[in-house]
Amino acid sequence: MTILALDQGTTSSRALVFSDELQVLASAQQEFTQHFPRSGWVEHDPDDIWTTSAGTARAAIEKAETARIDAIGITNQRETVVIWDRETGHPIHRAIVWQDRRTADLCARLKAEGVEDQVTATTGLLLDPYFSATKIGWILDQVEGARARAEAGELAFGTVDSFLIWKLTGGRGHVTDATNASRTMLYDIHRGEWSGDMCRLFGVPRALLPEVRDCAAEFGTTRADLFGREIPILGVAGDQQAATVGQACFDPGMMKSTYGTGCFALLNTGEQAVRSNNRLLTTIAYQLGGQPVYALEGSIFIAGAVVQWLRDGLKIIREAKETQPLSAQADASQQIIMVPAFTGLGAPYWVPEARGAIFGLTRNTGPAELARAALESVGFQTRDLLEAMRADWSDAGDAVLRVDGGMTASEPAMQFLADILGAPVDRPKNTETTAQGAAWLAGYRAGLCPGPAEYAKAWRLDRRFEPAMEAATRDRRYAAWRRAVQAVLSV
Ligand code: G3P
Repeated sequence: MTILALDQGTTSSRALVFSDELQVLASAQQEFTQHFPRSGWVEHDPDDIWTTSAGTARAAIEKAETARIDAIGITNQRETVVIWDRETGHPIHRAIVWQDRRTADLCARLKAEGVEDQVTATTGLLLDPYFSATKIGWILDQVEGARARAEAGELAFGTVDSFLIWKLTGGRGHVTDATNASRTMLYDIHRGEWSGDMCRLFGVPRALLPEVRDCAAEFGTTRADLFGREIPILGVAGDQQAATVGQACFDPGMMKSTYGTGCFALLNTGEQAVRSNNRLLTTIAYQLGGQPVYALEGSIFIAGAVVQWLRDGLKIIREAKETQPLSAQADASQQIIMVPAFTGLGAPYWVPEARGAIFGLTRNTGPAELARAALESVGFQTRDLLEAMRADWSDAGDAVLRVDGGMTASEPAMQFLADILGAPVDRPKNTETTAQGAAWLAGYRAGLCPGPAEYAKAWRLDRRFEPAMEAATRDRRYAAWRRAVQAVLSV
């Protein structure tokens, strides 16, 4: 009995085959091209998304040498928009990626008109180009004839999960799950349905939208020719929500933070959709049996990407893993602060036009100090999120942060995180939390995996990082970060 998890991310597609005990049997990964047609624009070719997903799936199945895949779970980069022709299946434009800022002006105009409050009350989100709605409108306005064709029901919109399901099922299913729907800015997260008001506000015809299902549900079966037989797709969740499930954050007050390109922290608030007063997002963490479980989310756009910048931009390291030994050589007396607002600032500031800065440079500042400042920027940004969560929801006060993602391999980075948060940081044994969350959803639906309570018992701690920094130092360093951010915002 095995489960295939497809993890379609921002820079690569991955496929993992899991046993019914959720052990990884095999995996495959493929990067694909990022298109930057203009400053602030980010696009993917939907064919790349599809061919790398199908290709890695086949490769992982072959490696696993398993006779049979029983179910498929999908997890994906969220918010990214694909629009395709229902007849031919061809996309009418490249996918516009979540990082893309082309609709910043439109968002600013709508904000000035005073509609943000209504948007937040309905969708839990803020008027920012990050989300799908304004990107859909942009494609409909820019591609000739698209709006009329969308209204006539000839086109389909999907986040990446929905597009992959369409391709996997040979166009038999136009569906998504509640977590992905909750990132579009078109979904009423309280009523659990597409919002007519939001569709009107953003000029999105209802006929474009997929049907929304639970995270563990029947999403269709694959074309028989793809993997040798039809396989049911039984689990779907956006990647940050799949990581929340993978980290077994099923109880209110549990919190996880995933360090990939960006960093996304989700705090489970149970059946209560908590409205943030501190510019966090209210989102659906997962939905099982028709019941949504909500979360407060803090989204930071640059986490691991700051290490990529050290490598590709500054060229002071050749590989990401060199960051840690380099930062260990840093002169402790220099307190360099790096604000990596390369693509604006996300939560809790939401300033798309902000740009990065480095403070405290001296003639002795070199690669080691910059590497340390880069790693520390991730800790400081996470503290911003935790502060906002604590202010929004008193139960967040004692929360332990469960972490996952590439950067968590760095012990000093995780120690600094615990130090600057003043809270314990738990790193689990299983580092494949996102894919495992998707696999569990599918396995649960298939009856192969146990329910949430049993699954949670299997979560294993690798290491707990306890805060060791003196409170006064923590306060002083965090205050310096806050001043640095204010300086960035005032430029
Ligand atoms: O909201 C964007 C997020 O889902 C992207 O995640 O891991 O592909 O960078 P990742």
